[in-house]
Amino acid sequence: MSVIAIIDESERAELATNGTWLSRSILHDLRNPLAAIYAAAEVLVDLDLKPTEVKRLATNMYCAAGRMRNLLANFSRLASGNGSSAEICDIRDVILAASEAASAGIGNHGIEIVLDMPRKTDLPLMRSRLECVFINLITNAVEAMPSGGQIHIRTKTAGDYVLVEIEDTGPGIPPGIRDRLFEPFVTSGKRDGLGLGLALARQTVLDHGGDMWTESAAGARFVFRLPLKRQQRFGRTGDLSGHSPM
Ligand SMILES: Nc1ncnc2c1ncn2[C@@H]1O[C@H](COP(=O)(O)OP(=O)(O)OP(=O)(O)O)[C@@H](O)[C@H]1O
Ligand SMILES: [Mg+2]
Repeated sequence: MSVIAIIDESERAELATNGTWLSRSILHDLRNPLAAIYAAAEVLVDLDLKPTEVKRLATNMYCAAGRMRNLLANFSRLASGNGSSAEICDIRDVILAASEAASAGIGNHGIEIVLDMPRKTDLPLMRSRLECVFINLITNAVEAMPSGGQIHIRTKTAGDYVLVEIEDTGPGIPPGIRDRLFEPFVTSGKRDGLGLGLALARQTVLDHGGDMWTESAAGARFVFRLPLKRQQRFGRTGDLSGHSPM
C-alpha cells in the first residue's frame, strides 16, 4: 500500500489553520449520509420491494437526511462563531446511532460490529459531532477490511473519564503514516480519501476536553477518553494542527 501525500507541508499547515478546514470538514461529514440516501434511493428506483423493505429504506433516508440537517445546523453555528451546544447523553445511544448510520452508508460488506457497552454512561456531549467521530472510525475500519471482518467497540469508565476502544480485525495502520495519523490531509491507500476523518475525530474529542490515540494491536486500535463532567474548554473548536494541547 503506497503513502500518498496529497499536498506539501506548508500548504497543509496553511489549510489547517485558516478557515478552509471548516468547508473541508463539511464536505467530509456530509459524504456519509449523502451516500446512505443515494444508495437507498437507487435501490428504491431499481427494484420492486416488499412494503417492509421500502419502509426500512425510507427510514434510512429519513435518518440520514436528519443527520445532514443537524450537521448543517452545527456548521452554521460554528461559522457564526457559536460553539455546538452540549446535551447529556448516554454514550451507548450515540454509538448505536452511529453504528446504524455507518451501516446504512456502506451496505453489506461482511462486517460485524460487536458492541461491549455494559453500563449506561451519561455525559455532556455535542451529540452530532460525537456521532461523526464514531462514523469516521467505523467507516475507516470498513474501508480497511474489503473482505469483511469485525469491529469491536467497548466502553468503560475510568475515574472521571469514559474510555472508548474501537478495534478492528483488519491489517492495521500503514506504518508510513503512523507518526502523522491525526494530522489533516494524511491519507494512504484510498482513491478518494481526503485525509480528514481522523483529524476531525480527534479535534472533536479534544473539544470535549478528552484525547484520542492509537495502541498496538493485531488490527487497528483507537482509544479515546471523554470527561464525565463538563470541561472549561468544551465547545471550542481548535485549529486542527494535529498537535495535542495536553
Ligand atoms: N481502521 C483502520 N485500519 C487501517 N488503516 C486505517 C484505519 N483507520 C485509518 N487508517 C489509515 O489512516 C488514514 C487516514 O484516515 P482518515 O480517516 O483521516 O482519512 P481517509 O480515510 O484517508 O480520508 P477521509 O477524509 O475521507 O476519511 C487512512 O487513509 C488509512 O490509511
Ligand atoms: Mg476516513
